[in-house]
Amino acid sequence: MRLGILGSGLMGGKLGTIFARAGHEVVFSYARSDGKLKRLARAAGKKARAGTPREAAEDADALLLAVHWSRVNDVLKQAGDLSDKVIVSCSLPMNDDDTALVIAHTSSGSEELAKRLPNASIVSAFNTVPSEVLFGVYESRRRTKRPSLVYCGDDRAAKKVCAELIREVGFDPFDAGPLRIARYTEPFALLVAQLAYEGKGGPELAYRFERSKK
Ligand SMILES: NC(=O)c1ccc[n+]([C@@H]2O[C@H](COP(=O)([O-])OP(=O)(O)OC[C@H]3O[C@@H](n4cnc5c(N)ncnc54)[C@H](OP(=O)(O)O)[C@@H]3O)[C@@H](O)[C@H]2O)c1
Repeated sequence: MRLGILGSGLMGGKLGTIFARAGHEVVFSYARSDGKLKRLARAAGKKARAGTPREAAEDADALLLAVHWSRVNDVLKQAGDLSDKVIVSCSLPMNDDDTALVIAHTSSGSEELAKRLPNASIVSAFNTVPSEVLFGVYESRRRTKRPSLVYCGDDRAAKKVCAELIREVGFDPFDAGPLRIARYTEPFALLVAQLAYEGKGGPELAYRFERSKK
């Protein structure tokens, strides 16, 4: 696939690198310096390059939205027309000092995004794991017991693309349902962050859902 990364920080930098190593064409965009984007692309290998958000969006099969909530409008404006695009969002609707969700309970950041981009297909994914686990999960992806990763969205084809990317990173994709379920997965992401960064688990924390026997 051709993948555009909108926001090349902790999440976008790592996921873009993994996607490029897995054989996808990746365009890294949106950082505070072009030098950083070029360094990331060089380190990710021949399949990756640096570009503007508009270049990342051009002909992309999917876009990863990985910016702070306060930067969403800016990066979307720079990306241009995103009609018919698959947008996988790991961005959480956090306030400026990252202490609280600014949208919750009766809506979610992902639903708000879908309202802002009614002609795009939004899938919410990758926001329920700390970025520190991503390379480790990719390196151990051949294990039979893979960690889970929940995703949700309303468009079946877009979800299929997203599930493939989740599998590519080494997770077991766990379909949580329609996009409105992001109302529950986004607060769940904060639980994981709390356990990872303030609890005893440490940032290498990933989760796995298992059905208990009846
Ligand atoms: N990190 C995690 O473990 C994690 C986990 C779950 C969900 N999330 C969510 O994922 C999203 C991204 O998080 P992150 O940790 O990857 O954030 P991050 O490391 O801060 O990355 C954000 C990217 O946006 C770029 N950026 C910020 N301001 C900019 C500006 N004015 N102009 C151009 N580029 C700008 C940053 O540039 P620089 O690279 O130059 O700083 C960086 O590349 C957030 O919504 C967060 O809530 C993160």
